[in-house]
Amino acid sequence: MADLKGFDIMSELFTEVCPDIPKSGPSKVTVVGVGMVGMACGMSVVLKGLCTDLVLVDVVQDKLQGEVMDLQHGSLFLENIKVYGDKDYSVSANSRIVIVTAGARQQPGESRLSLVQRNVNIFKHIIPQIAKYSPSAILVIVSNPVDLMTYVAWKLSNFPRNRVIGSGTNLDSARFRHLIAEKLNLSPVSVHGWIIGEHGDSSVPMWSGVNVSGKCLNSIHPRIGYPDGPEGWDKIHKQVVDGAYDVIRLKGYTNWAIGLSCAELLATILHHRHRIHPVTCFVKGRYGITDDVCLSLPCVLNCNGVNSIVNVDLTAEEEAMIKKSAMTIADVQKGLKW
Ligand SMILES: NC(=O)c1ccc[n+]([C@@H]2O[C@H](COP(=O)([O-])OP(=O)(O)OC[C@H]3O[C@@H](n4cnc5c(N)ncnc54)[C@H](O)[C@@H]3O)[C@@H](O)[C@H]2O)c1
Repeated sequence: MADLKGFDIMSELFTEVCPDIPKSGPSKVTVVGVGMVGMACGMSVVLKGLCTDLVLVDVVQDKLQGEVMDLQHGSLFLENIKVYGDKDYSVSANSRIVIVTAGARQQPGESRLSLVQRNVNIFKHIIPQIAKYSPSAILVIVSNPVDLMTYVAWKLSNFPRNRVIGSGTNLDSARFRHLIAEKLNLSPVSVHGWIIGEHGDSSVPMWSGVNVSGKCLNSIHPRIGYPDGPEGWDKIHKQVVDGAYDVIRLKGYTNWAIGLSCAELLATILHHRHRIHPVTCFVKGRYGITDDVCLSLPCVLNCNGVNSIVNVDLTAEEEAMIKKSAMTIADVQKGLKW
């Protein structure tokens, strides 16, 4: 029998494993910001039957009341979920998860990073209120630029790192898998691939890990996905990055895919599934990153939020890209007015 002494597969694979604290009882989910994204998140969560109570919070009273009433009128078709809302955060008390979508959105052609100070000012009002009424909640940050806003929410909430998550590149990875799947005439579920780093222009496609049934595409061509690789494949990452810009140019905003992506994260957390998703978490100390920043890496999610981070092996090229992604975020972060 092989000598397993000194062989610790868990610490090779993961870092920061939190002890599991399974939670039971009612699951109240609050969505802050009832705009296009907030309502797509709320709708996806109720259609999946993920909560007992869906609470909506916004500053615009009429819009808030209209959205609450509209969803309540559909309660016959939902899984016994109570829907209510208010401008006052006391309505959100004791939420298990709070999804934050409030804030300014990109105008056509505008980068996510340019939204930052406007949304920081909004978060200064929102996050302390959430923390006051739901001190044990897990925060799922969606407002852009999501990596910076996750860091800001973590600082303003004083919550432990594992309970402040950004929706991150879970959506970028879905776009990536969809585009590769279309090329291979497969379902995206059967294409495994990850986008990590910034949710935005400096995101990192992990071509070294893209595989179908364990068959790595870079074993077919080592430069697949790069400009000097096979034709067409290098455009996929550009299409992922441009995807949101294209949708915003065409319909004014993006909402359905991010709503579905968030509901998938909530399902993993609320059902204590230990599934791995690329989400925004605190990354200082990994891959030579020395700044205090949040970016997406593959994380094991369960009822603790981020239970652990997977120690994926990156190629030198990928590592250089993620360091650059971290520096881009850190530069913007340094200019924030708290
Ligand atoms: N992370 C992602 O993948 C992703 C994807 C799409 C959009 N987004 C981001 O989500 C955010 C929302 O986008 P949207 O299209 O829903 O915008 P929207 O303009 O439709 O909605 C924003 C909502 O926030 C509310 N709001 C503003 N200030 C508030 C405050 N202080 N408290 C409570 N509510 C407040 C507004 O009243 C509005 O209802 C944007 O920052 C956008 O860039 C992120």
